[in-house]
This record gives sequence, C-alpha cells and structure tokens, in this order.
Amino acid sequence: MGRDVIIPLDFSSAAEVYRFLDLFPDGERPYVKIGYELFYSEGLDIVKEIKARGFKLFLDLKLHDIPNTVGKGMAALAKLGADITNLHAGGGSAMMQAAAKALEGTQTKLIAVTILTSIGEEQLHSETLIDKPLAETAVAYAKLAKENGCQGVVCSPLEVPVIKAACGADFLTVTPGVRFADSAVGDQARVVTPAKAKELGSDYIVCGRPITGAADPLAAYRRAVAEFV
Ligand code: C5P
Repeated sequence: MGRDVIIPLDFSSAAEVYRFLDLFPDGERPYVKIGYELFYSEGLDIVKEIKARGFKLFLDLKLHDIPNTVGKGMAALAKLGADITNLHAGGGSAMMQAAAKALEGTQTKLIAVTILTSIGEEQLHSETLIDKPLAETAVAYAKLAKENGCQGVVCSPLEVPVIKAACGADFLTVTPGVRFADSAVGDQARVVTPAKAKELGSDYIVCGRPITGAADPLAAYRRAVAEFV
C-alpha cells in the first residue's frame, strides 16, 4: 500500500465541506477524514456523498463499548464503504475482535487508537491507574490491536519506528501532528514535517490546518504530497 496524505474535514457544516472539496479537480481527489464534529452534525448523508464523489475516506469515530455493541455498530458502519475506520484499543481484545468480524469481507481497514496523545504520562498513572510507562503501554496496545484483527494504529510519527519494530512493517501507522517547517503549530504539542514523517516510516499523515487553513489549500495539499508521498 502506498503512502498518502489524509485531510481531516474539521468543518461544522456540509456547505463548508463542499466548498473545500470543490477546490480539488477530478483526478486529484484527496483522502479525507470525517470525525465527530461533521458526523454528529451532518450524519450519514455526508459520508455517502463524499464517497459518491470519489474521495477515499477515513471514518474517525473511535468506537469504545462492550463487544456486542461495538460489533453491531461496526456492522452498520461497514455499509458506508469507508476505506479506514477505528476504535480504542483500550476497549480490549474481545471488542476489537467483534469489530474486525463485522468488517470481514469489506474493503474497510480497522485501525486502533492506542493512548490518546492528549493523555500525558502523569495523567496515565494518576487517572487511569496504568503504572507502566506511556510509551510501553502504547506499544503493548498496538500489539494487542494487531493480535485482535486491527490492521494498524493511529499514533505520533515519532512513535512509528518502535511500533513498526514491534508489529511489523506492514502494520499501518496513521499519524496526525504534521506541520510544514514554516506553518503554525497550533495546539499540537509534538509535530514533524511531512518529509520527516516519511523518513520515520509513516503510512498516512493526517494534515489538517496547514492545508485547510492555507490561503491556497490545493497548493498546500500538493506541497504535502510532494514532501510525503
Ligand atoms: O489541524 P491538524 O493537522 O492539527 O488536525 C489533526 C487531525 O487529527 C484532527 O482531526 C485531530 O482531531 C486528529 N487527531 C490528532 N491527534 C490524535 C488523534 C487525532 O490530531 N492523537
């Protein structure tokens, strides 16, 4: 599988999304990501429409519930034809197996969130009561995800080498936290450039505001592709 740049559609209305997507010519449809904001405000219709327009889609809904509920929820999402979808590895092995089973026979790849990047070392220990170091926990969750039917994880580009070493080169890594050398970092704590993410072995970069907030988003997208792919 080739590397690709995923643009998160972090817009609150369908009108804004379509205005943005219309910037991309036929034959240059980027991979896009739909998360909570857009899904909960615009629902299934926008997912179907974006697929119908020929965009590849990462449906970023991070499921986390009992196995039966996640399995049934995933079976419903499977009908949408997303290219990637995800869940929280913290939901455990049976939950991940139920999700993987629901996606069997579809084109949708299942990836796992290990430890949210918003959780720091101190919070991991004091609030979730996990006493192992954060980096070790994230790799253990990635291995658990692999053993239970997931094809990859969401992680920082900086974690890619250790995750690939533990889970294999073909275990997918989808990595947010990407900025051009000259773009604003915003609220991301640890960022790398698209070129650095490539060097670290990332399969997909999720690059949002450097593209969506650019004066010329198409040019910014092309720049990310030129550096990364
Ligand atoms: O605009 P920016 O490039 O920071 O967007 C990054 C995208 O990746 C957002 O949709 C954000 O929610 C998502 N994400 C992230 N860090 C994670 C998981 C998801 O930034 N650990």
